[in-house]
Amino acid sequence: MNQQLTNNIQNFEYLRKETIYLDSACQTMRPQQVIDAMAEYYQEYNSCGGRVKYDWGIKLDEKIQETRKKVLAFVGKSPSEYAVAFTLNTTYGINLVLGQLPRRFAKIITSDIEHNSVFLPTMAFAKRLNIPRVVLERSENGSLSYDKEKISNAIAVLNSMSNIDGRELVNLKEIANDLHKTGGIILIDAAQGISHNWDIISKSDFDALFFSGHKMYGPSIGVIVIKKSLLTTLDIGFIGGGMVEDVEIETYRLISDSDDLSSRLEIGLQDFAGIVGLNTCIDWLKSYKPEGVSTNTHQKNLAQFLFNELSQIPTLKLINSSPSPILSFWSDKIDAHRLAIFLSTQNIMVRSGYFCCHYYLKNLKKYPPLVRVSLGLNNTQEQVEFFVKTLKTIIINS
Ligand SMILES: Cc1ncc(COP(=O)(O)O)c(C=O)c1O
Repeated sequence: MNQQLTNNIQNFEYLRKETIYLDSACQTMRPQQVIDAMAEYYQEYNSCGGRVKYDWGIKLDEKIQETRKKVLAFVGKSPSEYAVAFTLNTTYGINLVLGQLPRRFAKIITSDIEHNSVFLPTMAFAKRLNIPRVVLERSENGSLSYDKEKISNAIAVLNSMSNIDGRELVNLKEIANDLHKTGGIILIDAAQGISHNWDIISKSDFDALFFSGHKMYGPSIGVIVIKKSLLTTLDIGFIGGGMVEDVEIETYRLISDSDDLSSRLEIGLQDFAGIVGLNTCIDWLKSYKPEGVSTNTHQKNLAQFLFNELSQIPTLKLINSSPSPILSFWSDKIDAHRLAIFLSTQNIMVRSGYFCCHYYLKNLKKYPPLVRVSLGLNNTQEQVEFFVKTLKTIIINS
């Protein structure tokens, strides 16, 4: 049915032209440049970082340091204040930092619309430290409702953008300032925000930020951006190679050079190809012009079109109150999983279910399973039009 699509947006030419991938909130596609940079590492300087003196390793070390700098520039922070550590993914980074925080905080705060990657670790952390956990409400515009008096000396863990409907933490800057006044800290889950709302992120004085390369057109790698002042207070318990200056039979001394503090969160050998790919991905993101416009304009235009179209389908219940590159809905006429399967027969890939937000969607809002459409820079207007047309046909025939 969609064999006539012209597709093949620049840098994603390797995709089959009938492919309509609408699951970028899970994993974005990788542009050819990122794939090439990783293959180049494997084929031309496949070495270990931070340890070797031969040319390949020296080239890799330079790339790693350059990637740390590019990440900081991307999120608008300075290398004198923040360190960048590479890890597995957002979830792992959150657990790694939360699990090693000093025991000086009064409570842990999160919100009702968090991914399980935040919702669950905050539960486990509160239980282990025997401190209260408070789940606050996020309004439709994404802002967190809170009482300044009640967040004293708290740890807040919040997403900067929801993976259900893209709502953004518009009051992030104020929350960070209010927490800091009483000794609190703010940890940001930027898994979605990193490829959409880095302006909100960069303007805030966050203590730590977590994101995944695979949701920003990069490799499967996690990134932690953390204040050095917080990093040096962590009670480091995940420990091993690449982290120490010296070791005695019963003691060790962690690397203390201010420029090498990231090593405290990088246990053992890292995903070096992933770091190299992320380096290229950041350059690519800054210069890419999908269909000749900026990445922001491209996403905004597609999101607006999709929102307008879906809003007009009477049997569809949209979760979104405004356009976003991430959009979820259910239909009175057909179950979400069946709908996703029917769409798949037309090479359209969407998600169905609760998207790891079981508390908010299933238990708080009591919604049925949803369909989620998430747009990426590899999508075209033609693809979104085809998706809308196909969706309407399926619903009419259900
Ligand atoms: C908002 C949000 N937070 C956290 C995660 C977890 O990311 P990862 O699986 O890369 O750790 C996701 C993944 O979809 C997400 O959307």
